[in-house]
Amino acid sequence: GATRREQFAGRWAFILAAVGSAVGLGNIWRFPYVAYENGGGAFIVPYLVALLTAGIPLLFFDYAIGHRFKGSPPMAFRRLSKWTESIGWWQVGICFVIGVYYAAIIAYAAMYTWFSTHEAWGDDPETFFFGDYLQVADTFAPSLQFVPGVFWPMLVVWLILLVVLGAGVRKGIAMASMIGIPVLFVMFIALVVVALFLPGAPEGLNALFTPNWSVLTDPQVWIAAYGQIFFSLSVGFGIMITYSSYLKRRTNLTGSGLMVGFTNSSFEILCGIGVFSALGFMAQANGVEVADVVANGIGLAFVAFPTIISQAPAGVLIGVLFFASLVFAGFTSLISILEVVVSAVKDKIGWSRWTTVIVVVGLSGVVSLLLFSTTTGINTLDVTDAFANNFGIVGAALVAVVVVSWILRRLDRMVSHLNAVSSFRVGRVYKVLVAVILPIVLAYMWISDIVLKAQDGYGDMPSWFVGTFGWGMSIALIIVAILLSLLPWSEKSGLHRE
Ligand code: PHE
Ligand code: NA
Repeated sequence: GATRREQFAGRWAFILAAVGSAVGLGNIWRFPYVAYENGGGAFIVPYLVALLTAGIPLLFFDYAIGHRFKGSPPMAFRRLSKWTESIGWWQVGICFVIGVYYAAIIAYAAMYTWFSTHEAWGDDPETFFFGDYLQVADTFAPSLQFVPGVFWPMLVVWLILLVVLGAGVRKGIAMASMIGIPVLFVMFIALVVVALFLPGAPEGLNALFTPNWSVLTDPQVWIAAYGQIFFSLSVGFGIMITYSSYLKRRTNLTGSGLMVGFTNSSFEILCGIGVFSALGFMAQANGVEVADVVANGIGLAFVAFPTIISQAPAGVLIGVLFFASLVFAGFTSLISILEVVVSAVKDKIGWSRWTTVIVVVGLSGVVSLLLFSTTTGINTLDVTDAFANNFGIVGAALVAVVVVSWILRRLDRMVSHLNAVSSFRVGRVYKVLVAVILPIVLAYMWISDIVLKAQDGYGDMPSWFVGTFGWGMSIALIIVAILLSLLPWSEKSGLHRE
């Protein structure tokens, strides 16, 4: 309606919310493994290059669009040009897909915070996780067999999300990060300190940080670095456009971006230290090499960590700190993901925040519970994650930078906008990075991923399953995005204001 766009109270509220989005499961369970697999200590070189040449430039790019056009992705891209609204809806679709499965992982972590207190997994954490806890079916066809231990905590996650998003930008989104991020940092630093004192920790750190310089000539290592940076900074799929649309007119954009980028990366290194100290302990306790216990994602969190918790002195403390960190890190990211969908629907239809939140969060919650709280949820989660993160995020970012730089030729104006409000000025180097380097890197990543999945399929999954939830979902997002962009903007929408 007639109300003004919501705003963050100040630059710090925005920085905290943006850090809340960036710092997520990717830091805790993805970075340590990716660094280890790609040269260990030597990975820092491609990682920093990727941060400076692609991550931060793309972050500035998102900020410029969101702040200049003051809208959710569809509205910002619609204001950029009549023809580009669908790029915004594509980003919204990706956020919807990621949001519906992200909630499941937060629910697992919440349950495991509790399980840690009494080592509910007994002496076989793997069987416990897939069998006793998730009750994984041996078929792929989605079932409607709900798993209570997943369903109920997921429902709680969606209800909290409803309240936080309903409360709005200041009292909900900013407040959640203002509480959640300090709590997360304190818990995680405590975890790292405890982990560093575990026997075997030095071996773990040696395994992570011993540099293998020969990897620097391997293109796959560079791709891994760029992939980690894009995912980790939450850039290129609408989140940062949405958050920066809530900034006041005169806000130091680039200064804030540097802050967010370096905080996220520092936290990532800290996660590497904590996780590998714990893995070093696990290796020693079981008389094996660190290489034999290294794990990633679901396996690290729900199989390796329970083993560590059972064997380590102060195991319960480690468990509670670790899983509660996952919950907090995941939840502040989930907020940012769903806010993209909420703000897009709110902008286009012109509903009030509460109406929008009830409809959007309600529908997303139902889809999320139907797909991911059942005995077949984990396979669906696996495949949608793989496709949303590559085909979706990388593809949408590629289209956005090419369209803005080359088709609409608006990069100069984006740069002037950034420089008009910011402390750290960008210029020629920045333009070359966005218009030339980013498209090359993104196109290479996008195409090589498509070729790989087309040739080899994904995991051991049947092709009809990957075809439906992988390729089908990805292409459906693009078609739906185009259709939504053809629908008229409501009279009450904010499109023609400001
Ligand atoms: N940036 C988050 C992380 O590093 C992940 C994320 C992905 C957040 C998608 C929001 C959306 O874990
Ligand atoms: Na991150």
